Amino acid sequence: MSRKALTRKAQLMRKLAYAPYSGYRVGAALLGRNGRVYAGCNVENASYGLTICAERAAYCQAVADGCRGFEALVVATEDGGAPCGACLQVAREFGPGLDVALVDAAGRLRQTTLAELLPLPYVSKPRVRAKRSR
Ligand code: THU
Repeated sequence: MSRKALTRKAQLMRKLAYAPYSGYRVGAALLGRNGRVYAGCNVENASYGLTICAERAAYCQAVADGCRGFEALVVATEDGGAPCGACLQVAREFGPGLDVALVDAAGRLRQTTLAELLPLPYVSKPRVRAKRSR
């Protein structure tokens, strides 16, 4: 999938966001090393802290599909805002190398990387080898 198509997917996902409390809709499209695209949108809740960010929703889709390696992430918002620290930390879990593009509602694109957005991540060695059933 081209980066343009990945961007389009993130923008489409933004339309599916459930954000009645903040009004800030976010769409994410994540390109796996398997060539597949995993998408997510933010899902808010009356109990605000239960809100799920678009990026983490996309990562959950990917891992549930057996994908743990990623090439690129596109995040679509109104203003081209960067992912929150929690989402960056989740992205970092699956490796330091990731192209990140931020796109605003007008289609303006800002190209960056996970390393630039999270230069000094928290890292911890897994103590048990994470198994995969398939
Ligand atoms: N949000 C995301 O979906 N991703 C981020 O990286 C930052 C914030 C959502 C959470 C909430 O629904 C809304 O944006 C306002 O914070």
